[in-house]
Amino acid sequence: MTDLSTQSLDELRLDEAGRPKAPPVPEATEMHRYQGQQLAAIHRHYLMEMAQISAVLTRIEARDTPPEHLKQIVLSLDMSENFRVFGSLCGRECQVLKFHHDIEGADMFPRIEAAGGGKFREIVAKLKAEHAVVHELIIRLSRAAEALAADPTEVNFIQAAATFRKLEEVVRSHFGYEETELAEAIGYYLGSI
Ligand SMILES: [Fe+2]
Ligand SMILES: [Fe+2]
Repeated sequence: MTDLSTQSLDELRLDEAGRPKAPPVPEATEMHRYQGQQLAAIHRHYLMEMAQISAVLTRIEARDTPPEHLKQIVLSLDMSENFRVFGSLCGRECQVLKFHHDIEGADMFPRIEAAGGGKFREIVAKLKAEHAVVHELIIRLSRAAEALAADPTEVNFIQAAATFRKLEEVVRSHFGYEETELAEAIGYYLGSI
């Protein structure tokens, strides 16, 4: 297995072309598919948080004056203070994303893997491989965020910003795949997650 920790940020990627489709669940009804959308709703919440952090990041990069609605969250005239705020937002987001994936790995994946006579094994294996990439990025971003909070320099900011952008891109793609392919199985076999 590839040692992800030695890969560059650029090399760390999801093999999107190698994604299997989930086998259909012929017994699933519209109601099941609707119930299965709860994963997408959870994902939307995290993506919204990441979009907010991304908006803060863009403002800091532009050395912009704070827009009214973001004034409380970020941007002072002191750039090192802004860097620190970005670092702590990233640190917090790393924790919640790790929490989300830990639950999936410990509870949702094993239940889906066991469902339907094991027909979801291949897709769960792929999702787990994607989690490994997301996890590596979460570790890197937590470290970068810690370094930035302790030492709010331009160099540390650039490092944290690049890692955040990469994590956001990877998470968005992973969420989309996971919630689409698992919706029927979640609704039909799990009922709730
Ligand atoms: Fe996931
Ligand atoms: Fe997820």
